[in-house]
Amino acid sequence: MVSFEAVELPRVSFPVGLALVAGVAIALRLLWRSDPNKPPMLSDVVPYISNTYQYMGNMDRFLARAKEAVKLKNIVGFHLGPKNFFIITGPQNIQALFRTSPHIDFEVFLLIAIESLWRASPEDYAKFKNDKSGRSATPAKGCENQPESKRYWYTLHRVLHKYLETTQYATMLARHYQRFFSEYLEQRPQGEWTEQTIMGLMKYDMAKAAIVASLGTHLFDMHPNLLDMAWPYDEVLVTLLFKPPRWLFRRAARIQDNFHAAISKYFVDANERFDWNGPDADADWEPIFGSRYFRELVKWMKASELSLQTCAGITSTTGIMGLNANSVPVCAWALMELVQDQELLGAVRDEVSTAFTTDPETGKRTLDSQKVLTLPLLQAVYVEVLRMHVSMNITRAATKPLEVEGYTLPAQSILQAPTQISHYNESVWGVEGHPATEFWAYRNIKYVEEKNPETGETKQVPRFEMRGRPTDFFPYGGGIAICPGRHFAKQEIMLSLALIVSKFEIEFLGWEKFDGSPSDRPPKEDSKYAGAAAVPPDRDMRVRWKRIW
Ligand code: HEM
Ligand SMILES: *[C@@H]1O[C@H](CO)[C@@H](O)[C@H](O)[C@H]1NC(C)=O
Ligand SMILES: *[C@@H]1O[C@H](CO)[C@@H](O)[C@H](O)[C@H]1NC(C)=O
Repeated sequence: MVSFEAVELPRVSFPVGLALVAGVAIALRLLWRSDPNKPPMLSDVVPYISNTYQYMGNMDRFLARAKEAVKLKNIVGFHLGPKNFFIITGPQNIQALFRTSPHIDFEVFLLIAIESLWRASPEDYAKFKNDKSGRSATPAKGCENQPESKRYWYTLHRVLHKYLETTQYATMLARHYQRFFSEYLEQRPQGEWTEQTIMGLMKYDMAKAAIVASLGTHLFDMHPNLLDMAWPYDEVLVTLLFKPPRWLFRRAARIQDNFHAAISKYFVDANERFDWNGPDADADWEPIFGSRYFRELVKWMKASELSLQTCAGITSTTGIMGLNANSVPVCAWALMELVQDQELLGAVRDEVSTAFTTDPETGKRTLDSQKVLTLPLLQAVYVEVLRMHVSMNITRAATKPLEVEGYTLPAQSILQAPTQISHYNESVWGVEGHPATEFWAYRNIKYVEEKNPETGETKQVPRFEMRGRPTDFFPYGGGIAICPGRHFAKQEIMLSLALIVSKFEIEFLGWEKFDGSPSDRPPKEDSKYAGAAAVPPDRDMRVRWKRIW
């Protein structure tokens, strides 16, 4: 069993323990002198405890301290419970972290999710835990004789890579997404002003279109209120990830139980209905399992002989939550930025209008989705929102002693590269008048001269040009573990924005809390999601909008 020792906080008689530890700590401090061969460490007022508490409970404060520390050296260490943690930054170190190396392991963390989020049965958990053959086609040293059917990491990676990550399948998924999302938008009355909240739009219409495109319509036929179960689950995922004792988080555990039970029912029913030898087995899309991607994932689950409990867990978390938990808040932030700045909204709308073709006879408009992906300003908005609102602790473990910044870190050290440090690096992203802490749609736009070949006139045209390098911007992680959904996510987010701004006139009405009551301030990031990918806004935006076509 994996338990994340780092969160096993002392539960009994805390003040007494604290006093004792503090005494010992002060004594040790008097003896301890900084060692030039050891990496700098974040000071721990109460060793092993105060940093742990802050890390778990006050991320902003902890990160601020870490940010200060890495100004001097691109590494800073701390203890999280009994574990050695190191926060690393800087282009070379980030690059090293993403490199495939037998000295760096990331499966340790996936195992935590396999246990706490997939809730894999013990036998299935053991399959992953004992598979040391890696994700590459060539098995790791010492595992050459392991049959392919028992190479769980590799075979899963192969499915995700082929059916989710390649352009062909990502684009197919996006095409179906576009079809469903347009359909939902067109349910709004044409030519009539109505009210809408942005998070409401994203959490329901966008998420539903993504689920239907990916997993089919049958799931919603069985569970019309699926999203009302999914979003409360989203709120407790981070808590559940570290597997707190069930008695402490009863509500969270119950939400998870309900969701997994509903998905389990769907999984059984879908498998009974589906004809694996019929023509739909390799269809682009069909109602029962949806996309080729999800159908192949189901096939892999069956071939790996995973229990129903595990299959339901994979479908619930990787299949449904992973699909929406990041794209939805990212798209919501982007739309909120556009609505707040009507000039920017107009500029994006003009740009998007160049990606439509209109049939001269029927007047029917078609969005050229490939063209949408190349629009500079829309792409710049997408990147700016990812930069600001993806907060991911990219985490790897050192299996052997590891050299970083000239220091040798002990084996079993945990290395973390928080996107929040690199994505806010002023020397990379800051522009006069537009610090990295601020949203600025034009941060990654460069104006270049373009000559009209006929008239010879030149004019300034915008180009998308990323200000940072891949080591300054890694919202999707990196290396072999990089998010396989990133191409689909990009298309999904850009297409959604393109459809919304071109189909609707939109005006800002006000900020509100999620219970519908007014808020006197705009949203901040909802810190309970920090470190686990996209961070949603803690307030919603109410708009009035009118569908034009
Ligand atoms: C803006 C949207 C998204 C963001 C920011 C995001 C981010 C991430 C990150 C940071 C990782 C871990 C990478 C690492 O440790 O190096 C990841 C993994 C993953 N993501 Fe995404 N993701 C997004 C959308 C999606 C979508 C739409 C899907 C599915 C269609 C998806 C499926 C997955 C899967 C299956 C993994 C696990 C991959 C593995 O372990 O092999 N993601 N994502
Ligand atoms: C991510 O790291 C920060 C500190 O860098 C910490 O406060 C936070 O709890 C971590 N979050 C997760 C989900 O690991
Ligand atoms: C910020 O960027 C500069 C330039 O690439 C780099 O040298 C430095 O290490 C970065 N700082 C952090 C904290 O990532």
